[in-house]
Amino acid sequence: MSKNILILPGDGIGPEIVAEAVKVLEAASEKYNLGVELSYDDLGGAAYDRYGTPLADETLERGRQADAILLGAVGGPKWDTIEPALRPERGLLKIRSQLQLFGNLRPALLYPQLAEASTLKPEVVSGLDILIVRELTGGIYFGQPRERRVLDNGERQAYDTLPYSESEIRRIATVGFDMARLRSKKLCSVDKANVLASSQLWREVVEEVAKDYPDVELSHMYVDNAAMQLVRAPKQFDVIVTDNMFGDILSDQASMLTGSIGMLPSASLNAQNKGMYEPCHGSAPDIAGQGIANPLATILSVSMMLRYSFAEADAADAIEKAVSQVLDQGLRTGDIMAADCRQVGTREMGDAVVAALKNL
Ligand code: NAI
Ligand code: MG
Repeated sequence: MSKNILILPGDGIGPEIVAEAVKVLEAASEKYNLGVELSYDDLGGAAYDRYGTPLADETLERGRQADAILLGAVGGPKWDTIEPALRPERGLLKIRSQLQLFGNLRPALLYPQLAEASTLKPEVVSGLDILIVRELTGGIYFGQPRERRVLDNGERQAYDTLPYSESEIRRIATVGFDMARLRSKKLCSVDKANVLASSQLWREVVEEVAKDYPDVELSHMYVDNAAMQLVRAPKQFDVIVTDNMFGDILSDQASMLTGSIGMLPSASLNAQNKGMYEPCHGSAPDIAGQGIANPLATILSVSMMLRYSFAEADAADAIEKAVSQVLDQGLRTGDIMAADCRQVGTREMGDAVVAALKNL
């Protein structure tokens, strides 16, 4: 059966980095007989220019039909002045929520070749390879009621609500356990169960799901301690599962342990493991059109797609290995440039990954 992949290059550097990721995807497809079929559409500012909306209905429908989606990035100063509801970022939020992409996977992996990019001591971060599983469509960012008001005494007050239902917790916990099973079978659930009712339910439901995963070692940690442990001894973690807000903060913190934004891929999955895969960075308008952006985060997002949506672990491993070899060869885009390395552009980096992949 062919794998239907929708490509949404987006804005800014999006089309440049996605072109390289597609080359790598096609090379992997040929080498491993993956049978991928690609179709293209627009999202974000590019979609606004073409359809007058950042996410057209037919694009959303195409996303529903596809087995997986590869996205570049959206946004840029060109669209900063249009009305908020039509801004590029709205298209991204809408496709995530419409496709119920509640399972956000953000790996933080430090390539040994880039060890000097981290601000932490080499012995703390060398060999770091952790995965944060963040709940993406619930919790305090979506909770109702939320309100800002003026109290009787004239004081301004505002509040948000942090709701989690059993089913929402169960499905993200299941993603966490599934990921742990694919890796080193250790899962740490992060909450604030000493204070929050929603976290107490979170912990309870995670414990229930754990019964289906006797092979996975489960631990719990309060979020404040997790923040400390991530900088003190991050290698104690393998997979972390947590709610939307804690995951937002901890995943940004963890990503910076690796030091380089141009290297970090991500996946957002729904219950059927349909996923949208994209680099963690944005559209980088400051360097768009110059052919100098780092395509590796997007290329590594393709690897995640093959691993998580299609269970093609060999092909996924091969892409990661090819990226590692290219770094071994001393090739670097500007954002990860270091002494004694050779600076290359977007296309040259993509070509080098394709060549390494073919030669594996
Ligand atoms: P950004 O991630 O686009 O850029 C931050 C800095 O990192 C810039 O100096 C940029 O040149 C550099 N950078 C990013 N990706 C790079 C790459 N692959 N290679 C080399 N350098 C890279 O974040 P910023 O500047 O805050 O946002 C720019 C636009 O992107 C905004 O319109 C923002 O809304 C949008 N954005 C979109 C996201 C998405 O589509 N998922 C995520 C974050 C921002
Ligand atoms: Mg964030």
